[in-house]
Amino acid sequence: LLIGMPEMRQSSLVVVANRLPIDDSVAPDGACEWRRSPGGLVSALHPLLRHTPATWVGWAGGTGPAPALPDIDGVRMRSVPLSGEDLRDHYEGFANATLWPIYHDAVEQPQHHRRWWDAYQRVNQRFAEATAQVAEPGAVVWVQDYHLQLVPGLLRTLRPDLRIGFFLHVPFPPPELFMQLPRRAELLRGMLGADLVGFQRAQAAHNFAQLVTKVLGLPATDRRVGVEDRVVRIGAFPVSIDTVEMAALADRPDVADRAHRLRHDLGSPDQVILSVDRMDYTKGIEQRLKAYSELLAGGHVKVRDTVLVQVAVPSRERVSQYQILRDRVEREVGRINGEFGRVGEPAIHYLTQPFDRAELAALYRVADVMAVTPLRDGMNLVAKEYVAARVDDSGALLLSEFAGAAAELPQAYLVNPHDLEGLKQGLLAALRADPADVGERMRSMRAYLHEHDIRAWARSYLSTLDQSGSMLTRLGGG
Ligand code: ADP
Ligand code: G6P
Repeated sequence: LLIGMPEMRQSSLVVVANRLPIDDSVAPDGACEWRRSPGGLVSALHPLLRHTPATWVGWAGGTGPAPALPDIDGVRMRSVPLSGEDLRDHYEGFANATLWPIYHDAVEQPQHHRRWWDAYQRVNQRFAEATAQVAEPGAVVWVQDYHLQLVPGLLRTLRPDLRIGFFLHVPFPPPELFMQLPRRAELLRGMLGADLVGFQRAQAAHNFAQLVTKVLGLPATDRRVGVEDRVVRIGAFPVSIDTVEMAALADRPDVADRAHRLRHDLGSPDQVILSVDRMDYTKGIEQRLKAYSELLAGGHVKVRDTVLVQVAVPSRERVSQYQILRDRVEREVGRINGEFGRVGEPAIHYLTQPFDRAELAALYRVADVMAVTPLRDGMNLVAKEYVAARVDDSGALLLSEFAGAAAELPQAYLVNPHDLEGLKQGLLAALRADPADVGERMRSMRAYLHEHDIRAWARSYLSTLDQSGSMLTRLGGG
C-alpha cells in the first residue's frame, strides 16, 4: 500500500460517506487485506458509481495516516484519516452511541458526552475540506448519512459554487426523540447547508420539516424550507439495490450448484429459514431467536424438518451495546442448540463471517423463508436482495413493519417484531403458506424491484438536486 499525498484530481460528481467501499481489515496471518465493507450504504452506492468519473470521499477503516488508494472499478478514492481518538469519539461515540440509537427509536439508551460532539465537529470539518479539494468548480456533491450531518453547511461556506445534496440512509426520528439531542439546532443547520435533503420515507421528511420550524423557526412544508435567501428542498427517495445484478448472480449455474450443496449440507430439511444481519440491536435478532425457540418448544416446528440459518456479521465491535448484544445472541444460540439440536443436526446454523456476493446469493436461493424482522430499519437492503435473488418466483419474505422496505413491499408477510406471539404466527404462516400465494406475492415484489432499482433511486434524487440533468447522463441513468 502506498501511503502518500492525497489525490488531487478533481471530479464533477463527488460522493461523501463515512465509509469507503473497501475496508482495511487484518487477515489471520496479521497481513493487511482490503475487502468490501458490509452494510447497506456501500451495497447501494458501489454498483451505482462503478465506471463513472466520480470521486468517493470516505474513511478506509483503521487509524493513522490516510492511505493513497488506487481507483476501484473506475471510481477515484479519496481517503480521510481518523485518529484513534476520532474513531472512539466521532465514529463509535457521537455517530454510533448518540445518533444511531436516537434515530432507531431509542431501542438502546442513547449516550451523551460533550467531547464526542467536539470530535464530530472536527471530523465533519475534515471531510468538508477533503471534499472541497476534489470537487470541480460547480460540481455536484452528494453527502451520505448520519456521520456527516454538518458537512453540507461546512462545505457551503468553503465552496458556495457547489450543488450539494444530503441523503440519510437511516430513519429520521419524530420530534419528541430528536429534541433530546443537546446539539439539535446545529445538526439541523448543518443539513440545511444542502440544496436537497433526502430521506428514505415520507414520514422522515415530515419529521424534519416539523423540526426545522420548531427548533429554528423556519417556514417549512414537507417539500421545502426557506433558509435566508435559499430554498432547500426536502423529499423521500427510498434506496434500492442493483436488481438485475443480483438476479443474474443468483441465476448463475455455479450459484445454483452451491445452493444445492448448501441444502444437502444442512441435512436436506423440508424448509430453510434464513436471516442475514449486521450484528446490531436494531435488527431484532434476539426476538427472532426467542420466537423460533418457542415454536420448537411448542412442537410447531421440528429440527429435522426445519432449520434456521442465522448470519450475523460483527459490527462496531468496541461499542459496549454491541458487545453485550453479541454475548447475549451467542448464549441464546448455544442454549437453543443445546436444548433442541441433535448430533449433526443443530437447530440453528450460526455464522459470523463476511461472505462474498455469490455465497450470499446461494444462501438466498436456499432459503424458503427469509426472516427480516428489525425493530427499526431505514430501509433493509437484505430484504430486497432476497426478492431479487428468487429467480423462480418462490420463497416467502417475512418482513418487519418497522423496516423502510415494508412501505414498498406490502406483499411480504408483515409482522410486528415487538409482538412475540405475532412474530411466531407470522413465521408459521410463512412456513405453511400455499405455494401459489407465495409465488404470486414474490412475482409482484420482483416486478416492483425491477422498476425501482438503485438507478431509479439515483435518477430520482439527482434529477431533483441537479435540474440541469447533467449528472444523470454521467451515471448512465439517462
Ligand atoms: P445495514 O445497512 O443496517 O447493515 P442492510 O440490510 O440495508 O442493513 O444492508 C446490509 C448489507 O450488507 C446488504 O447488502 C448485505 O448483503 C450485506 N451483508 C450483510 N451481512 C453480510 C455478510 N455476512 N457478508 C457480506 N455482506 C453482508
Ligand atoms: C448502515 C449505515 C451506514 C453504515 C452501515 C455499516 O447501513 O447507514 O452508514 O456504513 O450501516 O455500518 P459501519 O458502522 O460498519 O459503517
